[in-house]
Amino acid sequence: MCYNKLMKTYIVGNWKLNFTVGEASIYLHKLLKAMPNYRDIDVIVAPSTIALQPLSLQVDRHKIKLAAQNGFYRDYGAFTGETSFSQLRGIVDYAIIGHSERRYIFREDDKMVMRKVAAAIRNKITPILCIGETESERTFGETADVIRDQLSGGLSEVGDDDIDKVIIAYEPVWAISSAKSAKLATPDEVADAVALIRKTLKDLYGKAGENVPVLFGGSVNPSNAGAYLTVPGVNGLLVGGSSLILSEFVDIIETAKRVR
Ligand code: PGA
Repeated sequence: MCYNKLMKTYIVGNWKLNFTVGEASIYLHKLLKAMPNYRDIDVIVAPSTIALQPLSLQVDRHKIKLAAQNGFYRDYGAFTGETSFSQLRGIVDYAIIGHSERRYIFREDDKMVMRKVAAAIRNKITPILCIGETESERTFGETADVIRDQLSGGLSEVGDDDIDKVIIAYEPVWAISSAKSAKLATPDEVADAVALIRKTLKDLYGKAGENVPVLFGGSVNPSNAGAYLTVPGVNGLLVGGSSLILSEFVDIIETAKRVR
């Protein structure tokens, strides 16, 4: 069962660099039609930046919410190619921040991630802060240090009053489907990491830290979603590849309803 029955379940589809604006719009149309309105499940999709504005006019926010996959921490200025959280304000409700592809391909460090988390909150956008160790960090026994460092680093500008505006996603880099030799994380491995995340949140924020939703991501699909959703402390899923296939994403949402 979920860590806190009063807490919602979050199912987030991270579309990464996939779908044209037209394809994204057709997918959203079909998803809105296929999906019942589950009050206790927040379904969120994260299209490419270019699709966010048109999709924000199309989406029924009672059913589905939009997330940005990234954003820049300064609100305006000479930052060619960037999109700020102040520009995203009102268009998205959530933003994925610190995804491992941003950290390792685009070299975002904890300081950059920390600034982005703060900028999102400042602009009334809920950050979904992604953390997780690489395969070699796990092999060298550094998993706990990495989790603690990325969590406290990413949250270092977030005060006690704002921690309830944050979502954490645990995504071990070696379990993400695009990793060279992706392996499935076992529910026990997820449980250990999530327990550490919860302990760290409690150490940092006391009681307020207890209500932070923690999601899991890494090769989630319809056949393993139920197992991950029933790991103690897990409040939802961040789904990449499987979220691109409408029937699979709907199946995962229905699984969430069933096991909740
Ligand atoms: P995956 O991606 O489900 O394809 O492993 C998850 C993610 O990178 O957020």
